[in-house]
Amino acid sequence: MRSVIEVRHLTHVYMPDSPFEARALDDVSLTVNEGEFVGLIGHTGSGKSTLVSHLNALEKSEPGTVFVRGIDLGAKETKLSDVRREVGLVFQYPEYQLFEETVERDIAFGPANLKLDEEEIRRRVRAAMELVGLDESLREASPFNLSGGQKRRVAIAGVLAMNPSILILDEPAAGLDPAGRRGMLELIRGIHESGVTVVMVSHSMDDVGKYCDRLYVLSHGKIALSGAPAEVFVHGEELRGMGLDVPECAKLAAALRARGFDVPGGAYSRADVAAAILKRFGKGGDAE
Ligand SMILES: Nc1ncnc2c1ncn2[C@@H]1O[C@H](COP(=O)(O)OP(=O)(O)O)[C@@H](O)[C@H]1O
Ligand SMILES: [Mg+2]
Repeated sequence: MRSVIEVRHLTHVYMPDSPFEARALDDVSLTVNEGEFVGLIGHTGSGKSTLVSHLNALEKSEPGTVFVRGIDLGAKETKLSDVRREVGLVFQYPEYQLFEETVERDIAFGPANLKLDEEEIRRRVRAAMELVGLDESLREASPFNLSGGQKRRVAIAGVLAMNPSILILDEPAAGLDPAGRRGMLELIRGIHESGVTVVMVSHSMDDVGKYCDRLYVLSHGKIALSGAPAEVFVHGEELRGMGLDVPECAKLAAALRARGFDVPGGAYSRADVAAAILKRFGKGGDAE
């Protein structure tokens, strides 16, 4: 597996040597591999947004701490515009940053700055709209007349129109209703399946369990746990201690396991739970 992001012993202190000093990141190391869908979870204030803002050089890092495709983001000679072309960052509530008069112009803003020709810009806008599920008829609409979920899609399309190979989203489902959340997560799954490496910040264990290949759990600026979802969810007590929770199905799986059902450790999917229950009753066992 080839790594596309490497973070090595990254520490970030806001307002050092002041009464407001905050150690937002404390010796964080992590790796994201080509093609992965990585989840970054943690309680509010654990350092998630600070961490992702280092990954596209929005926050300047010390030399030797953050690498994107082997490029040291802290090195003097590194051109940050090259990095930002590679790594698309979708902020939390990105819809607040829409400002153009039409959907098309908003999405075209980034590509236009790259000085691409008109035809290429139009092509990218069309492709990005399609990828985020916005109907072409909305091209001339004002973004301000769209629903909250659609506005967010416009903002994401604007980042995708830069053709990033790595997409980072900071709490992309925050503030949406359940149907909107599901739609947004399915959309991100589709982007991932189109070949983009994805890093998603979330505080929903259910969401990261369902969509991510691998997780990093941040607590007080440190990586507290990492691994495949099943490896992380076995640490129910520790997660609760960090103000997090395991997915509902993981709780049910643990309860069944404690009662002697044959459920694999760390199971968290409905399928695992259903299989264990069927197995028990299918055998005609002495279920309580
Ligand atoms: N611009 C800032 N100035 C000072 N402190 C900040 C700033 N941004 C974040 N912090 C502090 O850094 C810590 C981590 O914040 P953040 O990265 O936003 O966490 P999260 O995204 O997990 O909620 C918190 O203690 C927060 O108060
Ligand atoms: Mg945040």
